[in-house]
Amino acid sequence: MYRPQNDTAMLAGALREARLPPGARVLELGTGTGAVAVAAAREGAGQVVAVDVSVRAVLAARVNARVRGLPVRVLRGDLFGPVRGEVFDVIVANPPYVVGHRDPAAVRGRGRAWEAGASGRAVLDRICRDAPGHLARHGTLLVVQSALSGAAATLVALRGAGLRASVVARRREPFGPVMLARAAELEARGLVRPGQRHEELLVIRGDLPSAAGEAVQTPLEGTRQDPRQGAGRTVRRTAVRGSAGGGGRHAA
Ligand SMILES: C[S@@+](CC[C@H](N)C(=O)[O-])C[C@H]1O[C@@H](n2cnc3c(N)ncnc32)[C@H](O)[C@@H]1O
Repeated sequence: MYRPQNDTAMLAGALREARLPPGARVLELGTGTGAVAVAAAREGAGQVVAVDVSVRAVLAARVNARVRGLPVRVLRGDLFGPVRGEVFDVIVANPPYVVGHRDPAAVRGRGRAWEAGASGRAVLDRICRDAPGHLARHGTLLVVQSALSGAAATLVALRGAGLRASVVARRREPFGPVMLARAAELEARGLVRPGQRHEELLVIRGDLPSAAGEAVQTPLEGTRQDPRQGAGRTVRRTAVRGSAGGGGRHAA
């Protein structure tokens, strides 16, 4: 079971910042304990659906919603599989995004929460591809990832699907046990500098064009280097009026 960590808190913060319209339909992909789905229900969502591939996660999320008296529909399945044909005003996801050498499809148990293949994008790419088809007019996608999994790839994919997309939150995070164990591999692949033991977590927001006027995305001063893009390539920083707290990713 993936205990809520800093990336969980970043996603919940971005959801708060997005200011749900009254009665919004919210979908959380990969809900884990249901922490973000519960937050959405508390924020006034009219309908919250939470999906996870893990039976334990589904049971935990159901219990967590029920003891709080919150109406969250928790479904077991693979990403959008359980909500075929449904559309949502907001889709949120903190998917597996850790770069590694294991085939995510073959992973069982806790590793399913983070193993995302050689690119770190096994699940991210599917979300970028399928989320636009499940967004209602004015819909918003919020997704957390590491910069090591390629922020530019997410932005390009979402923009290619017609969304207005940008980074709305970022946070430097020390490596937890999973990342420390594969630091040498990441160095050998040139994904981190020698001795680098931190990564940057990002929340990327995508809005359907009709919602562009409602998206609050204020450019901050300056730019920063995207580790996946090589020297001299930068991504724009954007402001978000929220903050995140909690423990380190994969610290469980
Ligand atoms: C990093 S955890 C995030 C959990 C929770 N949303 C949070 O932020 O604390 C990722 C979750 O995605 C689930 N997951 C992984 N692959 C999935 C898939 N293909 N479809 C649905 N859920 C998946 C895992 O079981 C895990 O609960």
